[in-house]
Amino acid sequence: MAGTGARRWVTALVGVLSGVLLLCGVGTGLATWTWTRYVVDTTGEVSFVNRLAIPPLAESRIDARGRRVFDLRAQSGHRDFGQGGSTLTWGYNGDYLGPTLRAKRGEEVVVNVVNGVGEPTTVHWHGMHLPAAMDGGPHQMIRPGATWSPHWRVDQPAATLWYHPHLHGQTEQHVYRGLAGMFILDDDASAGLALPRRYGVDDIPLIVQDRNFDSDGQFDHGRGLLGGIGILGDTLLVNGTVGPYLDVRTERVRLRLLNGSTARTYDFGFADNRDFALIGTDGGLLEVPYQTPRIQLSPGERAEIVVTVRPGERTVLRSYPPGRDMDFVSRRITGGDDAFDVLELRAAETLQPAPEVPARLVPVERLDPASAAQARTFHLAGHHINGRRMDPGQLDFAVTRDTTEIWEITKEDGTPHSFHVHDAQFQILSIAGREPPPELRGWKDTILLEAKQEIRIIARFADYADPNMPYMYHCHLLYHEDQGMMGQFVVVEPGQRPGGPPTGHTHG
Ligand code: C2O
Ligand code: CU
Ligand code: CU
Repeated sequence: MAGTGARRWVTALVGVLSGVLLLCGVGTGLATWTWTRYVVDTTGEVSFVNRLAIPPLAESRIDARGRRVFDLRAQSGHRDFGQGGSTLTWGYNGDYLGPTLRAKRGEEVVVNVVNGVGEPTTVHWHGMHLPAAMDGGPHQMIRPGATWSPHWRVDQPAATLWYHPHLHGQTEQHVYRGLAGMFILDDDASAGLALPRRYGVDDIPLIVQDRNFDSDGQFDHGRGLLGGIGILGDTLLVNGTVGPYLDVRTERVRLRLLNGSTARTYDFGFADNRDFALIGTDGGLLEVPYQTPRIQLSPGERAEIVVTVRPGERTVLRSYPPGRDMDFVSRRITGGDDAFDVLELRAAETLQPAPEVPARLVPVERLDPASAAQARTFHLAGHHINGRRMDPGQLDFAVTRDTTEIWEITKEDGTPHSFHVHDAQFQILSIAGREPPPELRGWKDTILLEAKQEIRIIARFADYADPNMPYMYHCHLLYHEDQGMMGQFVVVEPGQRPGGPPTGHTHG
């Protein structure tokens, strides 16, 4: 009996083992397939056959109170991206993206936003210092057919900002469909510098986005098998143009790079590895230009660069694999191994001369850590900040108006996150205990956390207080944001108690 028992065990064991081996084989095959499928590399393969579209400058008028008034209408439409059909899209004042708003420091602006998309949306002014009620976050919902008219005084340095929807739980979808645009701010300091400044001529907005198209040529909203990061597209759109080229007629051209993607991080550089001058980051110009061959931007981040070209040449702006600091599995499944050709620059045979980039740009006041009134910590992991998900009915904390705070942000998982703060531009004090690199020494409102690391930032929450209306802080990977990786804070007057956020923020 014992012998039979043993034989039965052996047979069972062999059966289990071969099952495991078979599964392993299938598993390995599937894993290999998934692994190789998860890398996108379009370098050397893009035909640059379409002239880069330049978003028009938004028209504006001055009203009786001297305010600059813009009109935006969010609407649906369709556009042929050359991807096998007419794609259903959303845009502001057009079928895809929106016009570039432009205002000068000191001006009062009003934007009349009409919601024509047939479902609730909001418009947030990313990077703008303004009252919370004008911020366009989840609490400033615009119902279908309604008009929202926020107004504020522009009071911050010249910068490349942008606008996009911020409806709670729907931001990724609304941005992916095409709602986004640039908001350029000017000031006297930047106007006095010998920098390229002719919009669409030698000062070029570049809104870089990735999309997947399905077989009908529609945007594919699928997140894929391992889609924990959100939607990673295999086709790049720059200002809505696939395979774009730009005719350059001047020796130097300024590119305002905006990562308008929902999840993907880019590491921009040129195919021939030339240096360019980084002159500005999210919140304004740097003190001095920084010569570098690369600038990495996570979703929401911006950079202004000046590139020098030689007569008659063609050169390609590329995105190199960005995931330097990640482990190899996380890197692969979050787009960290991906590379793209972005835009071809075609220099004319004769180029108009352009002055050298000034050696000094603008003074940047350093915020003093010793002046900080408060320190806070934020732990990012999964779709949580400090172990919590966004609760629209609950404030996370209150900041006192006109005080400076140090925020310590730690990332504890393998996924990249992009930490964004509303209302204030911040400076980076340290990354993993070290001084930030030159490209992260300027004003920032969004910062990538790639490795498990700790970043300390400092910001001043000036001018506006409202105990009941919160500003947001969140991961700018929009799928994470929609999943609740977001919190809200109010700015209060000294001694004032925070109230409660408005109810009825609902999705309508
Ligand atoms: Cu660009 Cu809270 O967003
Ligand atoms: Cu924002
Ligand atoms: Cu995230």
